[in-house]
Amino acid sequence: MKEMKQYLDDNRQRFLDELLELLRIPSVSADPKYAPDVRRTAEAISRHLTAVGVDNVEICETAGHPIVYGEKMVNPKAPTVLVYGHYDVQPADPLELWDSPPFEPVIKKTKLHPDGAIFARGSCDDKGQVFMHVKAFEMMLKTDNLPCNVKFMIEGEEEVGSKNLEKFCHENKKKLECDVVLISDTSIIDNETPSLTVGLRGLCYMEVEVTGPNKDLHSGVYGGAVANPVNVLCTMIASLHDEKRRVTVKGFYDDVEKVSAKERKMMNAAPYDEKQYMKDLNVSELMGEKGYTTVERTGIRPTLDVNGIWGGYIGEGAKTVLPSKAYAKISMRLVPNQDPAKIEKLFQKHFEGIAPKSVKVKVNAHHGGYPVVVPTNSVEYKASEKAMEQAFGKKPLPQRGGGSIPIVAMFDQVLKAKSVLMGFGLDSDDIHSPNEHYGLFNYYKGIETIPYFYKYYAEMKK
Ligand code: BES
Ligand code: MN
Ligand code: MN
Repeated sequence: MKEMKQYLDDNRQRFLDELLELLRIPSVSADPKYAPDVRRTAEAISRHLTAVGVDNVEICETAGHPIVYGEKMVNPKAPTVLVYGHYDVQPADPLELWDSPPFEPVIKKTKLHPDGAIFARGSCDDKGQVFMHVKAFEMMLKTDNLPCNVKFMIEGEEEVGSKNLEKFCHENKKKLECDVVLISDTSIIDNETPSLTVGLRGLCYMEVEVTGPNKDLHSGVYGGAVANPVNVLCTMIASLHDEKRRVTVKGFYDDVEKVSAKERKMMNAAPYDEKQYMKDLNVSELMGEKGYTTVERTGIRPTLDVNGIWGGYIGEGAKTVLPSKAYAKISMRLVPNQDPAKIEKLFQKHFEGIAPKSVKVKVNAHHGGYPVVVPTNSVEYKASEKAMEQAFGKKPLPQRGGGSIPIVAMFDQVLKAKSVLMGFGLDSDDIHSPNEHYGLFNYYKGIETIPYFYKYYAEMKK
């Protein structure tokens, strides 16, 4: 592994410059206006894969954004690692809250990243983390240290629910055959406290429309006599939590897996500074389900949140109006063994049930995804644990992630392969928010750690 350290040292600046170039392309998957940029990003990734020696690189067309695939088969007896990641990013809005333009990466020091961090949309989620795999592969191949077969599958629709990737996996089971799926799209606890993600929450995302009168009305002439759908929607939404901050949707908790006292104790032993957490967010109190700590609330408990709410007049100044319609986007984060399809039905029924007669409601579903748990007694986990320990000089803690990666549950079901969630971001890296950033320490540490995973995994699979 010494040659690899040397290789990394010799190529540090280039590894960074190449990533910065990739971050300049605005691969926003949600907005059709960026489709050409999304494609340019796929092309850039495919060029990088070819350049570092990956074979059979192709841009696979889908009904949506393309998937980049490539492979390097070095030894039929060696295990095969499927690297999954996404090159699409979240919209950069609101633009005015960025300190520098989202697609013009700059490096700045921060308190948590004293060596500097790359500020750009996608730096951490997930282009920066995907690119670590490309560079780690380059290092392994160039220094004759590639002990596993590798397949790359980098998609462009993770941020919009991975619907076409699901189809692609079903149709390409043979091509995607592998022993393990390796993913860097999650966080570590902090740069001194490495961790491996052992769970992801599922997702059920709904949109509701509440209609009152058949047209917008003068709020003086009609106000007080006719139900205002915005008022009604707010009341309905407020009723979705009880005084213990539990979700009131009937049946919501029915399938929730009970986590053992032992696991809860372990989760709570991880370093966490609540005062600092509140200070970073500028809130004087936290709010969540009674009886659970912050790590538990985000790791093992299901939640419901309004992501957006609108209706009526939202332009400059004041307009007196009693609007005809009100809308909200409501998401639920799910935990094992909740089923997003079942929760969708429960929510729909509940929401329709709580609507007063004065309004009509429509409830529609967006994408969803199943929750994931990663066992810690597998060869896959042990190899990633050893790799992290080697690179950080500390054994990583298993940690549940609060976010979702909808396709991961599918890998289990369709490809019959376990996933390793070895991400290197920090929860405070502002992914999806203005000023997203990724630490240089984290970027290079990832590149250093990945080859250890290949090494230990190949050894342990022998
Ligand atoms: N990389 C994130 C998920 C993540 C972040 C997991 C941090 C654990 C820790 C992923 O790109 C993401 O944002 N997923 C979406 C789901 C998707 C359907 C929009 C999410 O969690 O909101
Ligand atoms: Mn991601
Ligand atoms: Mn994301």
